[in-house]
Amino acid sequence: MSPFPFIEMKDVAFAYGDRPILKNINFSIPQGNFAAVMGGSGSGKTTLMRLITGQIRPQSGQVLIEGWDLAGFSADELYEHRRRMGVLFQHGALFTDLSVFDNIAFPMRELTRLPEAVIRDLVLLKLNAVGLRGVENLMPSELSGGMSRRVALARTIALDPEIMLYDEPFTGLDPISLGVIAHLISRVNKALRSTSIMVTHDIEKSLEIVDQVIFLAHGEIMFSGSPQEMRELDSPWVRQFVGGLADGPVAYRYPAQTSLQQDLLG
Ligand SMILES: Nc1ncnc2c1ncn2[C@@H]1O[C@H](COP(=O)(O)OP(=O)(O)OP(=O)(O)O)[C@@H](O)[C@H]1O
Ligand SMILES: [Mg+2]
Repeated sequence: MSPFPFIEMKDVAFAYGDRPILKNINFSIPQGNFAAVMGGSGSGKTTLMRLITGQIRPQSGQVLIEGWDLAGFSADELYEHRRRMGVLFQHGALFTDLSVFDNIAFPMRELTRLPEAVIRDLVLLKLNAVGLRGVENLMPSELSGGMSRRVALARTIALDPEIMLYDEPFTGLDPISLGVIAHLISRVNKALRSTSIMVTHDIEKSLEIVDQVIFLAHGEIMFSGSPQEMRELDSPWVRQFVGGLADGPVAYRYPAQTSLQQDLLG
């Protein structure tokens, strides 16, 4: 096992043009851990994910994968890095003109030279892993929202990724489907022993399934710790976030982040 955390950021700062988005970002995720990234809209969560995929680069600081700085990766190494990664985005968009089978087979056909017979077995195996059987010949328009999300998950895990990135995988799901998908993601994560990061607004569900939480506000990490520590925090700031309240300490104190941080931790 590598002596380095699997995913790490050191003093990362990122700006779109001259607009700062993230700063002072420091965290590390050990191999096999599942981390949740939370924070208000526009706080930089998706930007953080894009730094990990290598789609964008920080202006300063380092994004490290197993101790290696992504900035030093060649085009081939970056390609290899992305191959090891499964990414599930907000709407888990399936290709609408491809069947469920072809959707899941897509990354296998694109990125490997596996024979069709093996691909067939793998697709059925992955469908089984997300609790779906006998739907391989359906078209995406014939699936419910929860089923589509499962098929998208099956496609994401098609190549047994070592790194899984989920950007709001629960959006638009009813509470029951949300619970089902949350526990499915957790099981898949454990079975694959992948190192995973999930952007989510659902504090309750995610605290049940993740190992660590990274809380962003205004582009900085406000809190980083275990779900237990997060629950014990009971700060007005977190309550505001959990309750989705318009009024609370967040709006008033901005941009006095130091005092916010003291509120939160003190
Ligand atoms: N390609 C881009 N060019 C310029 N600004 C961008 C770009 N993408 C995002 N931004 C800005 O960066 C900030 C952070 O965006 P980001 O998408 O990371 O937020 P987020 O935390 O994922 O929000 P949400 O919860 O709404 O998805 C926002 O203010 C957004 O307007
Ligand atoms: Mg986002």
